[in-house]
Amino acid sequence: MTCPFSDFFIEIYFWKLLEASEGLELCFLCVRAEYCGCGLAGRLAEETIRLAVDRGLGFVKSNPTTEATFRVFRKLGFQLIRQMKLADYSDGTEAAFPHAEPDDCVGIAVKYILK
Ligand SMILES: CC(C)(COP(=O)(O)OP(=O)(O)OC[C@H]1O[C@@H](n2cnc3c(N)ncnc32)[C@H](O)[C@@H]1OP(=O)(O)O)[C@@H](O)C(=O)NCCC(=O)NCCS
Repeated sequence: MTCPFSDFFIEIYFWKLLEASEGLELCFLCVRAEYCGCGLAGRLAEETIRLAVDRGLGFVKSNPTTEATFRVFRKLGFQLIRQMKLADYSDGTEAAFPHAEPDDCVGIAVKYILK
């Protein structure tokens, strides 16, 4: 099934739902190759949540794209709002991610912070 690229940005509706609230977006969670597997991604995500809490923000949002980051966010109580295969995105005619492997996915993960 091909999903128009704009459908992915159902996220826009998601932001609208959160209009009354401010949050942090965790972009490009990366760990240098030689330090992978030491729990640093989890620590960085935890620190992001702590920053959001300290600032009185309502949520942390990120877009996991690997098994490891899906796992990190799940363990920290993020809700997976949406998950789709990159190969399913197109602008209507062409694949948006032509180099994606068939199983490559992107998610929208949100951790709501209760006040
Ligand atoms: C993905 C990445 C951030 C993970 O960093 P990391 O510090 O190695 O991750 P952690 O050590 O905190 O491990 C996180 C969890 O994922 C698991 N994990 C690690 N690699 C995994 C893999 N290839 N497949 C499945 N699970 C994996 C770990 O076992 C750990 O789970 P646990 O806490 O239950 O043991 C790092 O590999 C990276 O920078 N990759 C390249 C950039 C990238 O793809 N970023 C993702 C953007 S969303």
